Amino acid sequence: MVHLVDDQFAASVDCVYPAEGLRKFLQHYFTPDFFKGKSVLDVGCRTGEMVAVLTDFGARASGVDLSEGCIVSAASRFPSLADRLHVADVRDLAGVPDGSFDLVLCVGVMGYLPRQDWMRALKELARVCRDNGEILVLFQKPKPLLVQAIVKTINLVPLQFYLRVCCPLGATILAPCSLWFLGEPISRSVIRYRIMISLRGLEFGYPQQLAAYRVPTPNCAISSEKTTESFRIAKERWTELEHSL
Ligand SMILES: C[S@@+](CC[C@H](N)C(=O)[O-])C[C@H]1O[C@@H](n2cnc3c(N)ncnc32)[C@H](O)[C@@H]1O
Repeated sequence: MVHLVDDQFAASVDCVYPAEGLRKFLQHYFTPDFFKGKSVLDVGCRTGEMVAVLTDFGARASGVDLSEGCIVSAASRFPSLADRLHVADVRDLAGVPDGSFDLVLCVGVMGYLPRQDWMRALKELARVCRDNGEILVLFQKPKPLLVQAIVKTINLVPLQFYLRVCCPLGATILAPCSLWFLGEPISRSVIRYRIMISLRGLEFGYPQQLAAYRVPTPNCAISSEKTTESFRIAKERWTELEHSL
């Protein structure tokens, strides 16, 4: 499978999820007071909205993303947070010291890694999490073989053609029908982004050893119980989990 993640996401910085959906996401897992004074790392922060919402909730929030274009966009959108936003790869968070965060979020990122890299990424999330901290990580649900075959076929289309022609064309066709199809009007940039993230470079499934840590996923702007699996892992249980990985 093709993994041109950096280019792929830098091309979509005009799509911004409303803060309300991100608040709904966080409040599904945590009480409103949970974040006050906590250090939180959002891994795969894209355009920085989650870092901004976490900051509004009283957290000392930081974000990292593999895409330099996304980090530049996030920093210009939220200049007061710019020094907390950095380019980094979840598989090697080399600049982040061990045990630096109370909570480590990794939302919508694992599906874009080759599955042989999942363990390495999980170990990095655990490494940067404090001993009594927590990790919240989401994976794509397993999909039927037909869906996997469609995604693999679409990955044969050259990335630039896919980004510049297929996604805008799909969005132009679907946007006027979004009220009818999806029950609400959705802008062309959001549909273009959704086509891109759901059909390109995706791995489905999750490491079976995580099953015991599964929690329900909220249905909101960035996630859905239908398509995503959430895992909330207390760092103190990490050692026992790591042995089984
Ligand atoms: C689908 S977006 C999710 C963004 C945000 N977390 C959300 O849920 O809306 C995936 C993000 O993960 C980033 N990403 C992909 N691979 C990554 C990696 N190896 N390390 C860090 N970030 C990565 C992409 O650049 C992109 O910004």
